Amino acid sequence: MASFKHLLGIEGLNPVAVTNLLDLAESYALLNRSGKTQRDLLRGRTLINLFFEDSTRTRTSFELAGRRLGADVVNMSVATSSVTKGETLLDTAATLNAMNCDLLVVRHNRSGAPALLAQKVGASVINAGDGTHEHPTQALLDALTMRRNKGRISGLTVAICGDVAHSRVARSNILLLTMMGNFVRLIGPPTLVPGNIATSGVEVFHDMKKGLEGADIVMMLRLQKERMTGGLIPSMREFFAYYGLDRKKLSYAKPDALVLHPGPMNRGVEIDSAVADDAVRSRITEQVEMGVAVRMAVLDWLARGGVV
Ligand code: CP
Repeated sequence: MASFKHLLGIEGLNPVAVTNLLDLAESYALLNRSGKTQRDLLRGRTLINLFFEDSTRTRTSFELAGRRLGADVVNMSVATSSVTKGETLLDTAATLNAMNCDLLVVRHNRSGAPALLAQKVGASVINAGDGTHEHPTQALLDALTMRRNKGRISGLTVAICGDVAHSRVARSNILLLTMMGNFVRLIGPPTLVPGNIATSGVEVFHDMKKGLEGADIVMMLRLQKERMTGGLIPSMREFFAYYGLDRKKLSYAKPDALVLHPGPMNRGVEIDSAVADDAVRSRITEQVEMGVAVRMAVLDWLARGGVV
């Protein structure tokens, strides 16, 4: 029997751990829809959200998840903290640790920052996105959304499109989806989807029509301009023309293919509003809903020792 103190990435998890987390998250999705709560599970525990990068979905859903399980939740505002006076990441974490925090949710622009903290603090550390490395709870909520809609999370053809090179969401999804026996296609210009990114079970395409043929799921990614050095695309207009998902390009995928996007979306850049807001094909709002359920499952699991 294995146990996990932290959730630093999909790397290190195994199919049993992923399946257990998705099953637990499914039960929380049903609980959330019923309007019932389970405020005894984390009563007396403290969760601190420590976000060095902006966030809407991840930070809010971790806060909701913690509160729905009864934890005391603190959102630390880095912009108004002593970080602005030069306090280091490790000193900041040690300070929070001294306040007997149980769960530390960390987002940072440096890959590996949550793993470094995990070695220094007593709390369970959850990676809420680190640089271009991983965003494990995003991949779990994407998997839960796919499983709810397709009835399985294996044997699916999933096309991940756009700025793969700078995307921690893509990296976590590639790890999870290949581990669970799906076929992953990466589609985008060579500057954003280099040929050497392909690993076992992953194919690279630079043409949307070829890449989307037969896809069950089309996952669009935002251009991560904050992580780009130099001009990697000729113009936004040209990027949209070749790689932006509109109704015509979506028609290359399976007729029942579903559209995902981790958010935040840049409409008219990587996705057209007609597709993003299509109630039949888009599952973007459901992804946000599943984000709360998945984060409840992760908090619950770690608080009980992360046993698999
Ligand atoms: N998907 C995601 O991480 O969104 P936020 O940046 O809003 O948290």
